[in-house]
Amino acid sequence: MTERVYNFSAGPAVFPLSVLEQVQRDMLALPGVGASILEISHRSGAFTTIIEDAEKNLRKLLSIPDDYAVLFVQGGSRLQFSMVPMNLLGRGQVADYIITGSWGNYALAEAKKVGETRVAWDGKSTNYDRVPDRAELNLEPQAAYVHYTDNETIQGVEFQSEPQVGDVPLVCDVSSNFLSRPIDVRKYGLIYACAQKNAGPAGVTVVIIRKDLLKRSDPNLPGYLNYDIHAQNNSLWNTPPTFAIYVLKLITEWLLNDIGGLEAMHRRNADKARLLYEEVDRSSGFYAGHAKPQCRSLMNVTFRLPSDELTTQFVAEAKKRNLTELKGHRSVGGIRASIYNAMPLAGVEALRDFMAEFRRKNQK
Ligand SMILES: Cc1ncc(COP(=O)(O)O)c(C=O)c1O
Repeated sequence: MTERVYNFSAGPAVFPLSVLEQVQRDMLALPGVGASILEISHRSGAFTTIIEDAEKNLRKLLSIPDDYAVLFVQGGSRLQFSMVPMNLLGRGQVADYIITGSWGNYALAEAKKVGETRVAWDGKSTNYDRVPDRAELNLEPQAAYVHYTDNETIQGVEFQSEPQVGDVPLVCDVSSNFLSRPIDVRKYGLIYACAQKNAGPAGVTVVIIRKDLLKRSDPNLPGYLNYDIHAQNNSLWNTPPTFAIYVLKLITEWLLNDIGGLEAMHRRNADKARLLYEEVDRSSGFYAGHAKPQCRSLMNVTFRLPSDELTTQFVAEAKKRNLTELKGHRSVGGIRASIYNAMPLAGVEALRDFMAEFRRKNQK
């Protein structure tokens, strides 16, 4: 087998090896079907079972109530930045946005093209290193919805619990921490996540929407952009990304059967993240964490080194140890270690040990 590295990419990202092996095994012929997943119709019995199982598994993992629809769409989370206001923000209404980093800003910029928006809180003044307290939120009680980003992938800032917004539907971008821990779906009007971090390959985005909100979708919207049409057609209005949905189904099986559900996944993720943050905290400032400790992401661990030269050296030396994709996003700099569900503990331990060694050699 080709040697595999520990891949800390922010997405598309590391997969469970057992899932990759199964994809490889099934690639030429799905068991009982005699054709590849790449070759079968989205209307075939075999694919119907796959998409139904994918939905069933998501419902089980997240305890999704029956009055919520699960949609599989394309266009990534970026398309959701537009579809959310196109469907949920009526004329004369306003939508509130809580901005805790880059992705929240991108979502807001797209929503502004569609309708009226407000900023309920913006963490820019401290360079997006934390999430707001309840008292800091400046919410409009009549808003069509409140949008926030549960985990800011670039800054490494994560909400520990959902913001309290009263009766206004809460809309959440969970792209980079989807399926990393349990969430109480009932608290949300809509949540969305592109798959390519924790849930599968790029190409499919999961939308979970409370069914009463489907009534807001204007029938004059272009068909693909209309949530109600996707819901009425069980995500088969057009040809869905069949391969991506198949792999998503395998990932959900891995979470249910190998990991034991999202409580167990959350414990593993917390244990992994702790190893890196402990090294940051004992480094006497050599590694400077970006996020305030109470808002640290379990998925994207972000920190800076004392200089750009040391950062470059860190990334290069790590790569020689098969620890790859550690360079921080260009807008923030420093290091970002993305340690999604499928990153094994051994990978995080190897990074922690490398960090300790690099510090011993380079700390003045
Ligand atoms: C939090 C968050 N939202 C949105 C996106 C955009 O997703 P996509 O590239 O699938 O449109 C990303 C991608 O990295 C993300 O991390």
